[in-house]
Amino acid sequence: MGRCCFYTAGTLSLLLLVTSVTLLVARVFQKAVDQTIEKNMVLRNGTEVFDSWEKPPLPVYTQFYFFNVTNPEEILRGEIPILEEVGPYTYRELRNKANIQFGENGTTISAVSNKAYVFERNQSVGDPNVDLIRTINIPLLTVVELAQLPLLKKIIEAMLKTYQQKLFVTHSVHELLWGYKDEILSLVHIFQPDIAPNFGLFYGKNGTNDGDYVFLTGEDSYLNFTKIVEWNGKTSLDWWTTHECNMINGTDGDSFHPLITKDEVLYVFPSDFCSVEGLPAFRYKVPAEILANTSENAGFCIPEGNCMDSGVLNVSVCKNGAPIIMSFPHFYQADEKFVSAIKGMRPNKEEHETFVDINPLTGIILRAAKRFQINTYVKKLDDFVETGDIRTMVFPVMYLNESVVIDKETASRLKSVTNTTLIVTNIPYIIMALGVFLGLIFTWLAARRMKEHPSYDPNQTYLLPELVVFLTEQQVLECETESPSDEASEKKPATPFQVPEGPWRPSHQTSAITKGIVFDSQSSPLIFY
Ligand SMILES: *[C@@H]1O[C@H](CO)[C@@H](O)[C@H](O)[C@H]1NC(C)=O
Ligand SMILES: *[C@@H]1O[C@H](CO)[C@@H](O)[C@H](O)[C@H]1NC(C)=O
Ligand SMILES: *[C@@H]1O[C@H](CO)[C@@H](O)[C@H](O)[C@H]1NC(C)=O
Ligand SMILES: *[C@@H]1O[C@H](CO)[C@@H](O)[C@H](O)[C@H]1NC(C)=O
Ligand SMILES: *[C@@H]1O[C@H](CO)[C@@H](O)[C@H](O)[C@H]1NC(C)=O
Ligand SMILES: *[C@@H]1O[C@H](CO)[C@@H](O)[C@H](O)[C@H]1NC(C)=O
Ligand SMILES: *[C@@H]1O[C@H](CO)[C@@H](O)[C@H](O)[C@H]1NC(C)=O
Ligand SMILES: *[C@@H]1O[C@H](CO)[C@@H](O)[C@H](O)[C@H]1NC(C)=O
Ligand SMILES: *[C@@H]1O[C@H](CO)[C@@H](O)[C@H](O)[C@H]1NC(C)=O
Ligand SMILES: *[C@@H]1O[C@H](CO)[C@@H](O)[C@H](O)[C@H]1NC(C)=O
Repeated sequence: MGRCCFYTAGTLSLLLLVTSVTLLVARVFQKAVDQTIEKNMVLRNGTEVFDSWEKPPLPVYTQFYFFNVTNPEEILRGEIPILEEVGPYTYRELRNKANIQFGENGTTISAVSNKAYVFERNQSVGDPNVDLIRTINIPLLTVVELAQLPLLKKIIEAMLKTYQQKLFVTHSVHELLWGYKDEILSLVHIFQPDIAPNFGLFYGKNGTNDGDYVFLTGEDSYLNFTKIVEWNGKTSLDWWTTHECNMINGTDGDSFHPLITKDEVLYVFPSDFCSVEGLPAFRYKVPAEILANTSENAGFCIPEGNCMDSGVLNVSVCKNGAPIIMSFPHFYQADEKFVSAIKGMRPNKEEHETFVDINPLTGIILRAAKRFQINTYVKKLDDFVETGDIRTMVFPVMYLNESVVIDKETASRLKSVTNTTLIVTNIPYIIMALGVFLGLIFTWLAARRMKEHPSYDPNQTYLLPELVVFLTEQQVLECETESPSDEASEKKPATPFQVPEGPWRPSHQTSAITKGIVFDSQSSPLIFY
């Protein structure tokens, strides 16, 4: 009796277990999820992915911190500068892509990234039009640098004599960021038209873009999603001295391809750094080696072989010759000598590192902070009395923190996506649980057969008493009436099944097997996952 159930349960259980293991080994559902994501993370007109690429929905804030010079006279006499950090002055960024044009077969897209900055008074320490900052005179340093050119030297020396420029100047935060007209630069502009008459650390960057980009849409491969292939008509830079350093790698940092793997290195091309940062995936922070004095970075040393110590990058070549040096804020991760040359530098990881938190499945940014510092290179020049007896050093001017945090709405949508994929990829485990359940029925049936065997011991511990009761009332009866003559050797009683009286204590084995599957003793089994 119960033979049909016995075999059905056994076969089905085995089948389900084999199926689930096969599905797991072949990663069928995992692959299906991956493929869906790969197909959807493509820049195509009219899709949500395209819309959020064109007009990034998350608010980005840039916070500026200035270094106010407290002892200008002493510095000119050769003492250590004492700087005071002032900030933040917070601006909200308005970003959008414009001049969008798809390439012939949809694999490329060209666009410009417009950025505008709107001041946020209540997240700032003061009014940028009122607050004054005393800092180093970058236009003067630029002009002095230009004076190395033989033709301009005499003119510039004469100009500096006439205008009596000082090495330290005081300007409002707004002027320092967004530009002011400089007397000397205005004159130089006449001889060198590519030198603007205005100076500002972010001069000309409000409401404009940093050049024409050509991106890959991800149509050919998800790995190429929003990868930059061209900037200002060029596929590589020409500032640096090696091919590797001139390569344009990666995205603009606003988006990353989906399905990021653990050992992957993510590249970001930040045009304001004039170079490339590599972010190792799953740590997603800029490693110290990025600005280290290593053979790999030798191509960033200009002129060739003229390497500075670790932690700074000479970007004068892409700043019209102005002696600008980039570093992380407070010389974080830089050589100790830069930190100790200035009083007021307090580098620390939490405040000064650059990082990106990415959801590896979708490539969506959860939180990011891009932080860097703008410095100048100063040294005493005998031909220019303005430089006094100043020490040779890298002199900090300002640093910024460009940060973004995922908003509630995007976060909850991302959560529902990851939850859905979690359920889908767990289908094999659900099948497996079903297989285990049927296996238990099979075990019970086997036990029952043993009970009906002469060697049945009423003192034996039985598996799953509740299950027995449940099955007694339901399927077993039906099943047995269907094929009453199946078991010829064992004669059935009129009431086909009786729960034997005896010690129905649940065995230790039971609770082990039922872990993950909870049996409701009243009705049907419930599966929790
Ligand atoms: C996208 O499609 C809309 C409507 O079909 C069209 O007006 C727009 O120009 C297209 N955009 C691009 C970048 O092709
Ligand atoms: C797209 O066009 C380029 C040349 O215009 C070609 O090299 C490339 O193979 C094409 N890609 C696809 C997917 O058709
Ligand atoms: C800060 O600015 C926002 C938007 O401009 C405004 O909603 C908020 O009330 C302001 N908070 C304070 C403390 O002024
Ligand atoms: C910066 O220093 C100058 C000179 O000491 C001072 O006048 C100015 O108020 C300081 N700026 C800020 C924002 O504290
Ligand atoms: C930048 O431009 C926008 C719009 O043109 C303007 O509202 C904003 O005040 C400007 N920001 C600065 C810092 O000048
Ligand atoms: C696009 O992706 C494929 C596959 O990863 C790669 O072989 C190819 O070089 C990529 N194209 C570009 C222009 O990087
Ligand atoms: C660009 O990527 C290649 C490897 O794909 C690497 O060798 C090179 O150093 C990278 N260049 C930069 C500037 O990061
Ligand atoms: C940079 O590294 C090279 C080789 O390791 C070394 O010769 C040079 O002195 C270093 N430069 C500085 C400024 O430390
Ligand atoms: C920075 O690079 C410029 C060339 O662009 C070079 O003339 C200058 O000497 C470099 N500065 C330092 C401190 O190495
Ligand atoms: C940005 O970084 C600065 C320090 O570098 C920190 O004080 C500030 O809180 C950061 N802002 C945000 C929004 O994370």
